[in-house]
Amino acid sequence: MKDASPQTIYLKDYTPFGWQVADVHLTVALSPDATRVRSRIRFEPNPDAPAQRFFLHGEDLRLIRASIDGTEVTPVLTAEGLECDVPEGGFLWESEVEIAPAANTALEGLYMSNGMYCTQCEAEGFRKITYYPDRPDVMSVFTVRIEGDEPVKLSNGNPVAQGEGWAEWHDPWPKPAYLFALVAGELLNHPGSFTTMSGREVELNIYVRPGDEGKCAFGMQALKDSMRWDEEVYGREYDLDIFNIVAVDDFNMGAMENKGLNVFNSSCVLASPETSTDANFERIEAIIAHEYFHNWTGNRITCRDWFQLCLKEGLTVFRDSQFTSDMRSAEVKRISDVIDLRARQFPEDQGPLSHPVRPESFQEINNFYTATVYEKGAEVIGMLRRLVGAEAYGKALDLYFERHDGQACTIEDWLKVFEDSTGRDLTQFKRWYSQSGTPHLKVSDDYTDGTYTLTFTQETPPTPGQPEKAPQVLPIAVGLLNPNGDEVVPTTMLEMTEATQSFTFEGLNAKPVPSILRGFSAPVVLMRESTAEEKSFLLAHDTDAFNRWEASRDLARACLLAMITEGAGPDLAWIDALEQVLRDTTLDPAFRALMLALPTQAELAQMLHARGVTPDPDAIYAATETLRDAMATRWSALLPELMAEAQVDAPYAPDAEQSGKRTLGNAVLSLQTRLDGGKAAQAQYDAADNMTMQLSALSCLITAGAEDAALAAFEAQWKDDRLVMDKWFALQVAATAPEKAVARAAALTERADFDWKNPNRFRAVMGSLAMNHAGFHARDGSGYRFLADWLIKLDEKNPQTTARMCSVFQTWKRYDADRQALMKAALERIAARPGLSRDVTEMVTRLLG
Ligand code: PHE
Ligand code: ZN
Repeated sequence: MKDASPQTIYLKDYTPFGWQVADVHLTVALSPDATRVRSRIRFEPNPDAPAQRFFLHGEDLRLIRASIDGTEVTPVLTAEGLECDVPEGGFLWESEVEIAPAANTALEGLYMSNGMYCTQCEAEGFRKITYYPDRPDVMSVFTVRIEGDEPVKLSNGNPVAQGEGWAEWHDPWPKPAYLFALVAGELLNHPGSFTTMSGREVELNIYVRPGDEGKCAFGMQALKDSMRWDEEVYGREYDLDIFNIVAVDDFNMGAMENKGLNVFNSSCVLASPETSTDANFERIEAIIAHEYFHNWTGNRITCRDWFQLCLKEGLTVFRDSQFTSDMRSAEVKRISDVIDLRARQFPEDQGPLSHPVRPESFQEINNFYTATVYEKGAEVIGMLRRLVGAEAYGKALDLYFERHDGQACTIEDWLKVFEDSTGRDLTQFKRWYSQSGTPHLKVSDDYTDGTYTLTFTQETPPTPGQPEKAPQVLPIAVGLLNPNGDEVVPTTMLEMTEATQSFTFEGLNAKPVPSILRGFSAPVVLMRESTAEEKSFLLAHDTDAFNRWEASRDLARACLLAMITEGAGPDLAWIDALEQVLRDTTLDPAFRALMLALPTQAELAQMLHARGVTPDPDAIYAATETLRDAMATRWSALLPELMAEAQVDAPYAPDAEQSGKRTLGNAVLSLQTRLDGGKAAQAQYDAADNMTMQLSALSCLITAGAEDAALAAFEAQWKDDRLVMDKWFALQVAATAPEKAVARAAALTERADFDWKNPNRFRAVMGSLAMNHAGFHARDGSGYRFLADWLIKLDEKNPQTTARMCSVFQTWKRYDADRQALMKAALERIAARPGLSRDVTEMVTRLLG
C-alpha cells in the first residue's frame, strides 16, 4: 500500500495468466487478530498463455507454510506477492496464512464492522485474504469452510454442510476472486422466497444486525421485483438455490455483487418510513436491482481485466435505470439521471481527472470506479440501443449471453455481438470507449421554401493525454413544432458521424421550432444560441418531457447568468411562464418539482467558466438566493395552492405517486419558508410521521436560521440510529449559510459520535461541505484547509475513501488566482504526507498535473 513510486499498468500489456485454476478449497478459522486461512488450489497449465514465472498476489499476509503436491516449498516473497518454482504440468498448491481482520481499517479484504466479519474483494482485495492469482480472468469453483463461534456463517453459492462451530459452502459457478465473499457474526435474517420462471424455488435472506430487522421488508420486495424484471425483460433467471444480502455499517462503496452473497452498505438496503426518505427508498430499490442484475452482467459474464470495468458497470447501470423507469416514471428518471450526469460526470470529464470510459492505464484501479465508467458507460449503451433500436438491442443481448456465458470478456467482445447481430460496423462508435471528454455540439438552422435544414458541428475539447479528437457517432433525437405549437415532425433519430453534418426536413409550410436532443439522446453539451422566446415556446409546447424541462432549465440558467454577470434582476417572464406549468395539474407532481429546482451553484460555476468568466462562488450564491426570494414573493398565492395539492392523506408508501407529491410539496415548503421565516416548516416538522417530511422541514429550518430546537429534538429522537444521524450530520453542513459552513463542519467533527473511520459518517460531513459550494470555496481558504487536514488524517486508515474524496478538488482550475493558489497548496500538502497511499498519490498527481 505504501509505495514511493507507484507503478503504472497499461491495457496494452495484458497477458493471460500462465495457469488455470481447476478448483479452490478455503478454510477460514476466524479470530479478530489472528485469522488463519488455509488454501488448497489445483493449478493446470494455461495453453493460451506465454511461459512465465509462477506468481501469486498477496498483501499484508503472514505466510505460515506453503507446499506443492504435498512437499513444503519456500517461495520468494515480494512487495506484491510471492514467486515460486513449480513443476511442469498441473500441481496442487497449499498454503496457510495469518491475517488480522480487526486491524483492517481500509475495509478491503477480510475486516470487522461492529463485531461482525465481512469481506470486500473487488477490485483487488482477495490478495489480502490469501495468496492467489487475483485477476478477473482467472475463474474457478470455490468451496469454503468457515470455522468460528459466530451463529451465522455465510459464503458464496449454496450451503452444503454445517456443524458446531463450522459451516461449509460450495459455489458451482466458476468466478473470479473479486466475487468471493465471507460474512460471519450475530446476525438476524429477514426471509423471503422467489419462484423462478422455470419453477425453481429460491431462498432469499436479508441479514442484519439485531435491531435492524424491521428495516428489511422494502429491500426484500425490491429484490423480488428485480428478479422478476430480469426474467421478463432480459430473459435472465437466477442460478443458485439461495440468494443472501448482508447489511454492513462500515463499507467504502454502495454495495457489492458477490456471487449469491451481496454485501451492502447498510445505508443502501435498510429502509423504513420513519428513518428513510423517499429518495432513500428509490435509491435502495435501484441498488438492490443493480447488484442483482450483476449476477448476469458481471458474474456469469465478467471482465477480462480491470480496464474493461465498464463492460459490467456501464451495462448494469443501464439495466438498473431501465428497471427504475419501468417501476416508476420513465420521464422523471431520465431527467434525474441527466441532472446527476451533469453534476458528477461532466466536471470529471472536463477537468484533470478526465479519462475514457475504458481507461488505458492506471496506478490504482480503485480510482477508476468513476462517474465516467459507470454513468457515461451507461449512456454509451443507451446510445447503442437508440442507434440499433430496441428489438435489435434485445437480440444482441441474447447473443451476448449465449456466446459469452462463463467467460471473462472485453469491450471488443461486447461490440462484436452487436456487429454480428445487426450487421453494423461499430468501428467509429467504439471511440466512445477510447476518447475522453464531453463533445460540444453546435447547431445552426435554415428554412427556405418549405425545407428546413439543421446543421450540426461537433467538437471535443482536449483532455489529459488526448490533444486531438476525432468525430464520434451521435444519435440526435429531433422533433419539429409548428409556430402554433403542433408537432409537425415527431421524434426522429438523426445519426451524426461527421465533424459537421446537415439534415433536411421537407414539405413544411412554415419555419418550425426545433426540439433538439430529445430525451438527452447523447451525452454532449448542446450549444445552441436560441432566444428566450423560443425557449418559452418549448416550455409551453414541447411534447418531449426532457426538452420541456430543459427549456425551463435553460431559462433559469440564462436568468442566473444575467444576474451574476450583468447585475440583472430576476426574470419575471420566466417565473410567470413556469407558474403556468406548475399550475397544470395534469402534469406529474414529480415532474413539476423538477421544473421548480434551480441549477446547482456548481453547474453555474461551470457555465461561467465555459463562457470565459471566472466564477465567484459568493456572487453565484447571492444570485441563487435572490432568485429564490423572487420566486417565493411572486408566487405567494400559488404556493399554498400547490401545498394543498401536494398533501398526501393516505398512509405512507414510498411509491412514485406519493413521493412525487411530497417532493413537490417540499420544494414549495422551501420557498414558503422564505416568506414565513419557518412557520410552516416548524409545523410540518412537528406533525411529521415519516423521514421525508421531517428531514425536509429540518432543512428549511436550517436555511431560515431557525433550527436550534428542531436540531436538538431530532438528535434526541434519533441519537441511537447511525443512518439517521448521518443525515443529521450531513444536512447541517449542506444546508447552512456558506459563511457558517466550515465552522459548523469543524464543530461536528469535535463530537464523540463523529466516528470518522466510518465512511458514511466521514462522507456525511466532508462530502456535504464540498456540496456547499460557496462554503467550501470560502475566500480565506478555510474550507480547503479543513478538508485537506481530514483527508491527510483518513488516508492512513482508509486510502480508498480518501482518494475518492480528493475529487472535490477536481474543478480547482476554474476559480480565481487566489482560490487556485489555496487549492493547489491544499493538494500539495496532501501530496507531501510521508507514506501517502498509492490511491491518493495517483489522485493528487492527476489533479495537479
Ligand atoms: N461493483 C460494485 C458495484 O457497482 C461497486 C464496488 C466496487 C463495491 C468496489 C465495492 C468495491 O456495484
Ligand atoms: Zn456495479
